[in-house]
Amino acid sequence: MQNLRWKIKQVLEEGEAAVGKSVVVKGWVRTKRGSKNVNFIALNDGSTVRNLQVVANPEQVDEDILRRISTGACLAVTGTLAASQGQGQAVELPAESIDILGEADPEEYPLQPKKHSFEFLREIAHLRPRTATFGAVFRLRHAMTFAIHQFFHKRGFFNLHSPLITGSDAEGAGEMFRVTTLDAKKPLLNEEGEIDYSQDFFGKETSLTVSGQLEAELGALALSDVYTFGPTFRAENSNTSRHLAEFWMVEPEMAFYDLDDNMQLAQEFVQYLVRFALDNYADDLEFLNQRQLDEEKNKKKEERSDMSLLERLQLVVDNDFERITYTEAIDILRNSKPNKKKKFQFLIDTWGADLQSEHERFLVEKHFKKPVILYNYPKQIKAFYMRQNEDNQTVAAMDVLFPGIGEIIGGSQREERLDKLQQRMAEMDIPEKEMWWYLETRKFGTAPHSGFGIGLERLVMFITGMQNIRDVIPFPRTPQNAEF
Ligand code: 4AD
Ligand code: MG
Repeated sequence: MQNLRWKIKQVLEEGEAAVGKSVVVKGWVRTKRGSKNVNFIALNDGSTVRNLQVVANPEQVDEDILRRISTGACLAVTGTLAASQGQGQAVELPAESIDILGEADPEEYPLQPKKHSFEFLREIAHLRPRTATFGAVFRLRHAMTFAIHQFFHKRGFFNLHSPLITGSDAEGAGEMFRVTTLDAKKPLLNEEGEIDYSQDFFGKETSLTVSGQLEAELGALALSDVYTFGPTFRAENSNTSRHLAEFWMVEPEMAFYDLDDNMQLAQEFVQYLVRFALDNYADDLEFLNQRQLDEEKNKKKEERSDMSLLERLQLVVDNDFERITYTEAIDILRNSKPNKKKKFQFLIDTWGADLQSEHERFLVEKHFKKPVILYNYPKQIKAFYMRQNEDNQTVAAMDVLFPGIGEIIGGSQREERLDKLQQRMAEMDIPEKEMWWYLETRKFGTAPHSGFGIGLERLVMFITGMQNIRDVIPFPRTPQNAEF
């Protein structure tokens, strides 16, 4: 029985060639319409955004069964594929028999065939993968994961698993979640009356990692080219459409790369991923493109975007990213219309200010109209490990900025000179004692190296055109929310 089962993707791809073949198809009912004499059931099994039309009539299929079939029910349908009279499909499946694997009471099933808001769908995240939009998003999320490994593997990089539990918070990339087995009500205290972490599970204070970079650096200084790919955790209370408390990050780290090499790799990497989606997931992208074009029609003219999803993707594939220094960006922003007319929430007047997402989006969407890489940032606003430039003011940092998203990648050339690194750590009050292992890589056989981090969810937002980061991860973790 099982070997007769075809995935719907396979049925639709074979199309006319499959006519006459006996198959079993299993999936969930998207819609059911028709009359007493004939029912048309749109069946979807998640293998593709497209549905298979099942044709069922009471001569073949028991009327009681037909009556119990409704949106959301799970069916196994047996039949012989036939050429379709209907539009938009080459084949359909006249049912010889139908087994109902699971009913879905229409009085209670929340996913009826009508338009639901994304806010509502977030409340039923256990069911939303059954919608066409979320099916497409999660297939594309898989596509990106696969293509990321493929890209690096082809280039001789090795995947390095960095720990999720860490004893150092030196990275400083964000607030951390503590990991402990101490009794929350009665933690053991030391003589000073403070929590005694020496009695905790690891014998020291530990947290969930904010980044695998520092470990990736250790790997690069042995294997040359490595990348980490795993969940990272940040306990900042930022309730925005671009922040998660738990997100997945990819962090390549390369020995013997300078900042230019790093920027070049970042561009080629993202272009490869976008091209992979265009080449292999055209159905899903066309569906999302059309969905968003329909949405745009309901918006006010000034809120509509200039480009469709597919146009934005093509733009990234076809163009070199603009590379400008932080200093050049500040000049552009200072003289920009929204700055002069005080339209920015944070006005730019002095060199050294951190850029907000409104500034990043102005540069990308209004000024250059393509992805932008900003580099050589003021050292005050960047991490201790970034390589100090000759000017004593800036570090060899880079951020890649994307239309609709803002920062999608952050990276740098690393400080490989032991004395310079120690000096910067002292200035930033980072204890050397905790970082002895990191410093030893500079002491023994140090090498110039660089790397960057890309948030998988920000990438998937760009690829799918979804506007809220909560809608590109199956079960989002955000402040006040850890349901499912
Ligand atoms: O710029 P970030 O903080 O850089 C690092 O963590 C470095 N250690 C990376 C490296 O050089 N190896 O984060 C990198 C990327 C951001 O550009 C963004 O795409 C994503 O991670 N990111 C988040 N995504 C979702 N929710 C959050 N709270 C995020 N914070 C960062
Ligand atoms: Mg950053």
